[in-house]
Amino acid sequence: MDPKQVVSSDPQPRQKLAASASAKAPPCTLIIFGAHGDLTKRLLTPALYNLVGAGLLDDGFKVIGVDRVDGSDESWRDELGQTMQEFTKDPDAEFYTPEINQDWWKSLSGRMHYYKADFTDIGQLEGLKAHVSGNVLFYMAVASRFFATVVENIGKAGMTKEEDGAFRRVVVEKPFGSDLVSAQELNARLLAVLDETQIYRIDHFLGKETVQNILAMRFGNGIFEPLWRREYVDHVQITACETVGVEGRGAFYEPTGALRDMIPNHLFQLLSMVAMEPPNSFSAETVRTAKEQLFEAVQPVRPENAIRGQYTAGSVQGREVQAYRDSPGVAHDSVTETYVALKLEIENWRWSGVPFYMRTGKSLTGRLTEVVVHFRQAPLAVFADTPIDKLAPNNLTLNIQPRQGITLGLSAKIPGPKMDLGAVQMSFRYEDAFSLTPNVGYETLLYDVLIGDATLFQRADNIEAAWRVVDPALKAWAADASGPEPYAAGTAGPAGADALLKRDGRQWMPLDRDDG
Ligand code: BG6
Repeated sequence: MDPKQVVSSDPQPRQKLAASASAKAPPCTLIIFGAHGDLTKRLLTPALYNLVGAGLLDDGFKVIGVDRVDGSDESWRDELGQTMQEFTKDPDAEFYTPEINQDWWKSLSGRMHYYKADFTDIGQLEGLKAHVSGNVLFYMAVASRFFATVVENIGKAGMTKEEDGAFRRVVVEKPFGSDLVSAQELNARLLAVLDETQIYRIDHFLGKETVQNILAMRFGNGIFEPLWRREYVDHVQITACETVGVEGRGAFYEPTGALRDMIPNHLFQLLSMVAMEPPNSFSAETVRTAKEQLFEAVQPVRPENAIRGQYTAGSVQGREVQAYRDSPGVAHDSVTETYVALKLEIENWRWSGVPFYMRTGKSLTGRLTEVVVHFRQAPLAVFADTPIDKLAPNNLTLNIQPRQGITLGLSAKIPGPKMDLGAVQMSFRYEDAFSLTPNVGYETLLYDVLIGDATLFQRADNIEAAWRVVDPALKAWAADASGPEPYAAGTAGPAGADALLKRDGRQWMPLDRDDG
């Protein structure tokens, strides 16, 4: 990753990205398997549109969408054009823009071509070879069960060989396996066809500016790193809670559940950004090796430190929500968890004895993604007359979303003749300091694949190490028929999650608080 991309005082970071990159990505054919899929519509197309707008795509860049159903260049372009228009109507959409810049869209759509093929059928994929030369990026925007088959097929069709200085790269989406063994198998099948340097395992959390900013904050400032260790930190809370339920995704969610959906990928990426040792550079191998060393130090989770919940009917922010078990595609006696809380222990010199608590869930009372570093309580002697509960320990919140910024919790004197303390906050908000352009987070990631920067992508060993940590919980749950603890939609989750912290004398940060 270009450090300028992370550390920028420019008021327009996205434009800065364009300027600092100063080079367009090399010419390339992007082949998207799953041309009609949701990912292509909601995330890849807006990201490409933004890259056109930023002037980062070469004139020789083109896209071929592959899918099973009949279609033409025109019909595919129209379909995606309609989705782009929808984005102008919904300010809550993942990508909202008040209007579509027609020049950008024409420039992008004119390079988009449709190719009908069943990607599981090698015979049908062979014809694609005639359309492929030079640099090629294959994007697996398909269901995870097809990842290995498609890669094997493009390998057999002779499309993955890197010759004459041209690259052949593959982006693999999540979920990457469903446990340690399946992740190892998937890695083995991909690595039988490709070199590790050709594989880009994507995690969209790493496309978020606020997640990348964790590195900027930790390593671009001198004041945090000396405190960032067990001598000063009491514990860390990592939260990714949502108000949305499973909605129409029951068929995907039933065999997946909250743990597989969020923990070994997204929350482990947050964990790595917060807890890894400072890398000597932002080069891909250095950063990924620092993550690997951290993950190796994270102890396999103890089943008693893994809490699961499932939402029952309730009301989320005034909206009636049906029970998870009554959602389409979900079994009436489902034991799939929609909430998980974990306590993790890291055995290294920096973090030994500092618990890292993680939680994620659906249909909760608030939408909040954040990391909160709780520092140790100051010695109390000088405030002997101040009630203990007024002495708020310091905490540093890295606000990922919806609020984007950093908040430091402090104690300050309440004005008046007595020495009374009150909790106050110092906060930085992205929107106050920078002008933000609408983006979906995939812009940086796609650009990085095109220029061959794998820093924000997961290496095979990173993925397997994360699964190794959570595997004991998955195994214990599979063997325990009692299923997840119910919690009403619109609450903060199951009581067991509160008990997990309470037994350590701690409590979760409220989900519905208003930070400043
Ligand atoms: C996805 C999960 O990977 O991440 C979803 O499959 C989840 O279940 C989503 O809602 C959360 O991402 P974000 O960017 O909306 O926080």
